[in-house]
Amino acid sequence: MNETEKYIGEICALDVKKAVFSLAAKDSNYKKATVRKISENTYQIERFTEKQAFHENFPAEKLEEKVNSLFPKDFSQAEFFTDEYVYGAKITKKGTLLHNRRKNDSPDGEISHNRVKKHIIDVENLPPVFAELGIMTGDGKIINSKYDKFKQICRFTELINDEVAKDPKETFNIIDFGCGKSYLSFVIYHYFSEILGKKVRITGLDLKQDVIDKCNTLARKYGYDGMNFVCCDVNDYTAEEKPDMVIALHACDTATDIAIARAIDWGADYIFAAPCCQKEARKMIKPKNFGIITDYGIINERFCAMITDTLRAKLIEYSGYSCDITEFIDMEHSPKNLLIRAKKKPSADRYKKAKILSQIEGIKDEFGIDITLSKLLLNK
Ligand SMILES: C[S@@+](CC[C@H](N)C(=O)[O-])C[C@H]1O[C@@H](n2cnc3c(N)ncnc32)[C@H](O)[C@@H]1O
Repeated sequence: MNETEKYIGEICALDVKKAVFSLAAKDSNYKKATVRKISENTYQIERFTEKQAFHENFPAEKLEEKVNSLFPKDFSQAEFFTDEYVYGAKITKKGTLLHNRRKNDSPDGEISHNRVKKHIIDVENLPPVFAELGIMTGDGKIINSKYDKFKQICRFTELINDEVAKDPKETFNIIDFGCGKSYLSFVIYHYFSEILGKKVRITGLDLKQDVIDKCNTLARKYGYDGMNFVCCDVNDYTAEEKPDMVIALHACDTATDIAIARAIDWGADYIFAAPCCQKEARKMIKPKNFGIITDYGIINERFCAMITDTLRAKLIEYSGYSCDITEFIDMEHSPKNLLIRAKKKPSADRYKKAKILSQIEGIKDEFGIDITLSKLLLNK
C-alpha cells in the first residue's frame, strides 16, 4: 500500500459526508466528481462531463475502493468533508501527496453557506413524463442540451424546499407564470406529491397554445390530476382559489412583475421569481447624478437589471413580505441566475413601510425609473 492509499484509508475511516474531486487528468472523461453520503449506509458518486452528470449509488463499505478509483487516477485534487474538518489532498506533478486539514465552517459539508446544495431531485428516480417532456432520454439520462435547464429547476426546487419543508400545510396551490415547456412545474409537482407527500395543485400559464396543449396532454396521460395548464396572457389570468405560492422562472421582461403583483394581490405565502430579460428600465433610465452609468451599453444593461430587481425586492418588502435575492445557480448554467424569494409576514410594520417607500421613491427620483411592478402596486 503506497502513501496515498494509506492516507485515503485513514480518511475513509472517518465519517465522510462529502468529497469533491477536481484537477481532472487530461485523459479523464470527467471534469469533476463528487461523492455524497445520502443515507447512513449509502453514498452516491456524481461524475460530471462537460454537459452531463452520471450518478452511481454504492454501499458505505465501498467508500475507500471508490475513492481510490478516483484519486489520484482521474483527479489530482480532493477535499473530504466531515462535520468537524475539511481534509484537502493534492498530488504534485512529481507525484508527491500533499495534505492538510482545516475547520469545517459549514458542518453540513457544504462550501458556501448562502447556497443550498442538497439534492432533493434524484435524477435516477424521475418519472417517465420527463422523457416525454424532452428533458431526459428514455433510459433516464438528462439530455445534454437540457442539462443547464435541469440544473436550474433542481436548484429552484431545492430553494423552495428550504421554506416548504418547514410548513405544516398539507395542500399547496401554486401558479407558474410563463411556464413554457413546464419542466419546472412537473419537477415541483413531483417534489410536492412524491417527495413531500403533500397535496398539490399547479396551474401553468403561458401564451403558447402548443406547449400548453402538450403539457395538459402529458398531465392527463400520467394521471397528474392536480396539474392544469392555461393558454393566456398572464395579465388576464384570474385565480379561482387563493394561490399559496407563485413561481416564475425566466418569465419574459415584465411578466415577472405581473407574477409578483398577482401574488401580492392574492396574499400568496411564497413568491419565487427568477427574472429574465429586463428591457423596461433601459428605456427609461435618466440618472440625475450618475450619468456615466449609461455611457457603456453592457454596464447600462446590467445596472438597469440590478435596479429593476432592487426595486422589485423593495416593493415586495413594502407589501408585507420578507424578501431576499440570491444567486440560485452558477453562472455557467445561466447568466440569468438571480432568484427573488419572498415570504409573507404575519403582520406589517408601518414604520418600516414608510421607510421602504421613501427608499423606492429615492431610486425612482435618482434614475427616472418607474417599473411595472411599482405602477401595479403603488398606483392603485
Ligand atoms: C424564457 S421562457 C421560460 C419558460 C419556463 N419558465 C422555463 O424556465 O423553462 C418564457 C416564457 O414566458 C412566456 N410568456 C412571456 N410573456 C408572457 C405573458 N405575458 N403571458 C403568458 N406567458 C408569457 C413565453 O411564452 C415563454 O414560454
